Amino acid sequence: MAEQKSTNIKWHHGKVTKDDRKQLLKQRGIILWLTGLSGAGKSTIAVELEHALLENGHHAYVLDGDNIRHGLNKNLGFSPEDRGENIRRIGEVAKLFCDANLITITAFISPYRQDRDNVRAIQRVGEFIEVFVKCPIDVCEARDTKGLYKKARTGEIKEFTGISAPYEEPINPEIILDTSKIALEECVKTILGYLEERGYITFD
Ligand code: ADX
Repeated sequence: MAEQKSTNIKWHHGKVTKDDRKQLLKQRGIILWLTGLSGAGKSTIAVELEHALLENGHHAYVLDGDNIRHGLNKNLGFSPEDRGENIRRIGEVAKLFCDANLITITAFISPYRQDRDNVRAIQRVGEFIEVFVKCPIDVCEARDTKGLYKKARTGEIKEFTGISAPYEEPINPEIILDTSKIALEECVKTILGYLEERGYITFD
């Protein structure tokens, strides 16, 4: 957990509640936390899911590892500490988005169980859905969509998840999607079904 450095600060409450925003947006905010190896399909699923939700009149937004590392988290690398801070910040951003009642989809490797659990711990109960985008490392490596596994094998990239850095699988994720076995449309359908069954969204 990050140290509280600033002092003499006080929480300022707004006049608009989460419930007010819920009425306006006709949906409940939720965080869909996609975790898995590089190349497992997190970003692809996130993008498709966001599109499917918007097509059906729901407000969704994707926070993606590669993208966020161009801006907000450009000062972080891939050491365990930096990954921890990367995930901590995104956990806080996702919390704000969720409070604004957006369906918040995050696509970060988030390899450390403790970092993911820390994110879950700061959310309201039921608003953090861990989605394990499962795919065997050899399949991810064979895909090598960004050519990074090849560089990791030669040592050009250090601390690469699955090769020279760990990935700790979720123990009890709400959803598991094995992208080596099921197609993209099926992954999206599974998440939409989960949201619909639990009343997070309604479809016409
Ligand atoms: S995380 O581990 O801190 O959650 P994040 O999802 O933000 O990672 O970023 C992962 C992306 O950064 C990968 O998809 C890949 O494109 C790129 N990347 C560059 N170096 C590494 C590395 N050493 N390990 C993993 N991913 C890396």
